[in-house]
Amino acid sequence: MKLWGGRFEGKTDPGFAEFNNSLRFDRRLFEVDVTASIAYCRALEAAGVLASEEAAEIHDALERILKSEQVNDSTAEDVHSFVEARLIELTGDLGRKLHTGRSRNDQVATDFRLWLRASIDELNNVVRDTQTSLLDFAEANREVVIPGYTHLQKAQPVLLAHWCLAYFEMLARDRERLAEVRRRVNIMPLGSAALAGTSFPIDREALASSLGFEGVSRNSLDAVSDRDFCVEFLSACSLIMVHLSRLAEDVILYATSEFGIFELGDAIATGSSLMPQKKNPDSMELVRGKAGRVFGDLLALLTTLKGLPLAYNKDMQEDKEAVFDAFDTVSASLRVSATVLRNISVNKERALVSAASGYMNATELADYLVRKGIPFREAHETVGKIVMRAIELKKELNQMELREFQKFSALIDGGVYEALSLERTLASKSQIGGTARDAVDAALARVRESIL
Ligand code: ARG
Repeated sequence: MKLWGGRFEGKTDPGFAEFNNSLRFDRRLFEVDVTASIAYCRALEAAGVLASEEAAEIHDALERILKSEQVNDSTAEDVHSFVEARLIELTGDLGRKLHTGRSRNDQVATDFRLWLRASIDELNNVVRDTQTSLLDFAEANREVVIPGYTHLQKAQPVLLAHWCLAYFEMLARDRERLAEVRRRVNIMPLGSAALAGTSFPIDREALASSLGFEGVSRNSLDAVSDRDFCVEFLSACSLIMVHLSRLAEDVILYATSEFGIFELGDAIATGSSLMPQKKNPDSMELVRGKAGRVFGDLLALLTTLKGLPLAYNKDMQEDKEAVFDAFDTVSASLRVSATVLRNISVNKERALVSAASGYMNATELADYLVRKGIPFREAHETVGKIVMRAIELKKELNQMELREFQKFSALIDGGVYEALSLERTLASKSQIGGTARDAVDAALARVRESIL
């Protein structure tokens, strides 16, 4: 059934009908479409457009559609046409009254906001589960020290738990962003009709609150043509993928035999069809790869919206696949990342050897000299020379003899070895946000509580 046949005499070209059809993907709006229609039917009743018995019958039919309906292979143009056609099948001419004062333009904007609101809540839970996996991983490996890197060159040792908390913080900001997007999503366009507003005395505020919306849109032209909320959602999704992709990259690197810090469990790795020895981190590679796909969704929608005249244009139907795809991709990537975290074993000894070598305590030596009264810049210079000498001697700093140190500075005494120890290196980073064991324990305890 077409919703707009009256003005037409000719038939729609089948190829174009197929091209125009959105039921294939907007069937995901089925439930929210029916729910919004039930609320709208009650609003029409309150406005005196539908008699009580009429509203009751429509309401009842919509409930039945909601309960029994699989969106079948109907030829309906979109989910809205599908539901309306079913309603008319069940209630006859009465069903034809439901669309009074409403357009698919405000209907689809309303449906999509309802769908996205629930989906943001679901996504928020999935992000939280991934955060929990990070905390579990951190707590199971509390004592583990790993090398920290800048420029992918060994920099300073950090606790593995500190590394986990870094990703935890990124995901915490992602959840904040989702909550902010949700606030702007939760505004009701219904009652804007096609573009100019509705001609029937619908109590929009009451309708909004019956659907759980926080408020009503303030301009009908804007309400039917605004897809900012989708762009914001895609942008928040893109940042989640940036974060997961960086996590993926770290895990992939640490699981190489060259780094040798992580080993991936069989559950989340794959083999090679040719090389029998291989164990590949496909799980994390796919997460890293799928980031590109979500950025694509964001760019696609931005490009679609740019240059659209007010108000609704059919271009906007393209919003759905971008948002659905991003939602599915981000949810799946989060879930797989959480599973990966539960299936990593850490090679503690190897991590320790790596964390205690490569001159990652050179900054400690400079700080030691600073505490002896030498300006940092000068200390930095001196330690640079000591490191050169140590490389020459093929020794770590703490393996060098005291007299060797003293050639560079008479201020260095036997206390230097304590200062250069791995534990001291860690313990000195004791301010908020640092990698000292106490600071990290406190951070873990704080965030554990915050995500309950
Ligand atoms: N399927 C359409 C969409 O997703 C619904 C709105 C159609 N409105 C219209 N005036 N053709 O955008």
